[in-house]
Amino acid sequence: MFEALPAKGVPGEQILDELSGLRRADLPTHGGRLFAYVYDPALDGLDELAQAAHAISAHVNGLDPTAFPSLLAMENALVGAASQLLGGNDETVGSVTSGGTESLILAVKAARDSRPELTTPRLVVPSTAHAAFAKAAHYLRVELDVVPVGADLRADPEATAAAITRDTVLVAASAPSYAHGVVDPIPQLAATAAARGVRFHVDACFGGWVLPYLRRLGADLPPFDLSVPGVTSISVDLHKYAYAPKGVSILLHRTETLRLPQYFAFAGWPGYTMINPTISSTRSGGPIAAAAATLRHIGDEGYLDLARSTRDAVEILSTAVTETAGVRLFAPPETTIVCLAADASTSTPALAPATTGIDIFVLADELAARGWHTQPQMAFGELPPTIHLTVTAAVAPTAKEFAADLAAAVTATRERGPAELPAPLVEAAAALTPEMITPELVAGLAEGLGLGAGDFTQMAAVNSLLNVVPPALREALLTGFLSLLQRPTPPA
Ligand SMILES: Cc1ncc(COP(=O)(O)O)c(C=O)c1O
Repeated sequence: MFEALPAKGVPGEQILDELSGLRRADLPTHGGRLFAYVYDPALDGLDELAQAAHAISAHVNGLDPTAFPSLLAMENALVGAASQLLGGNDETVGSVTSGGTESLILAVKAARDSRPELTTPRLVVPSTAHAAFAKAAHYLRVELDVVPVGADLRADPEATAAAITRDTVLVAASAPSYAHGVVDPIPQLAATAAARGVRFHVDACFGGWVLPYLRRLGADLPPFDLSVPGVTSISVDLHKYAYAPKGVSILLHRTETLRLPQYFAFAGWPGYTMINPTISSTRSGGPIAAAAATLRHIGDEGYLDLARSTRDAVEILSTAVTETAGVRLFAPPETTIVCLAADASTSTPALAPATTGIDIFVLADELAARGWHTQPQMAFGELPPTIHLTVTAAVAPTAKEFAADLAAAVTATRERGPAELPAPLVEAAAALTPEMITPELVAGLAEGLGLGAGDFTQMAAVNSLLNVVPPALREALLTGFLSLLQRPTPPA
């Protein structure tokens, strides 16, 4: 038990030991075996450099750049680098935010507040757009118009055009989408939005720092950045493929006029006049300095090398999937994501997966048992459940091992058969509606599914159950479960 406020202070060395002990329960952030959450370039000395840079600026406050010009200089340098990489010019401006979600919320806010005359502002996105757009719409009270993607999993320009109304303040699409790693047809979509006089945002949070390098290496990817006419803003997370520690993303706007409504300004109180480009007011300089040091250390040539290793790793992993009977590539591995499905996976989610296909959730557990931590994705509409692999440069040295383990994991999955759920639990779940979810009910379900002890290594049964319940119920159940986990530590 980690006690944050002991009666007497504890020596630093002991605390660091304790923190290291806690960290041992985590998934491995380095070593190329975790395919979500983390981005690892596997460069010697980079962590130490970023930590030292973070320490130099940890107490600097981004609230007031006139008080801390060091932070302003670093932010302007980061925005300048992003602009240079993503087709900006001398009119381009931008902001440093805390992450992709914040960049997207701010892109939506800027668009919404540029049209104050509208009572019901609307946002048009493809069904594969990141969940952060739904969050932005929810927080900002903007109506979300979700357009189904085509059979190729890409945004459909014609359907998008049809969804734009007089109330649309923003159209957005991904480069690439998180779930499948495919790039939406940005030039066509941007032209469609521009023809209607509507802002168009490219969510390149995931791929914005690697796509330009993949293109330089010859990848056949469409233009996706500010060089494309009609693109009015673009976001790129530095804590993803720029390999900076967590907490930094960039939101670029084509012009200053487009950015202005992103700011929040308030002088109507007795304290300081608050002018914020971002959601947070006080902001630590630590992550910004760490990102600045990371970019400067890796450099343009370094990023090109990292993109090359990543591309090679993607190729090895995709080939492994293609050559393993029982699984298939679900989307073309054209960027840095490998998305796989069971060979005979059907579009209709069913508790017992098609008898000819393996259970993808059991496969995820079998891969985890072999030290490969993947991200299962639930069935969505017509799409079957899949396994997502975010591939980073650190995967290159281990990718070859994956092929043999994948084959073994698929064989074991077939032998195990589909995840088994206690029948009473399935019946109980089938009768539930989101309104019925209480903390007690969630605690009982968690206990019944073996999650009470905090062991999350065998998740197939849980995932199978979540896969078949309606999305609104899944949201309520997982909210309840997270709330169950997020309880204050009792006094020692
Ligand atoms: C395409 C895309 N957009 C937005 C986000 C949200 O980023 P964050 O988790 O940094 O808020 C992600 C995260 O994976 C992403 O892949």
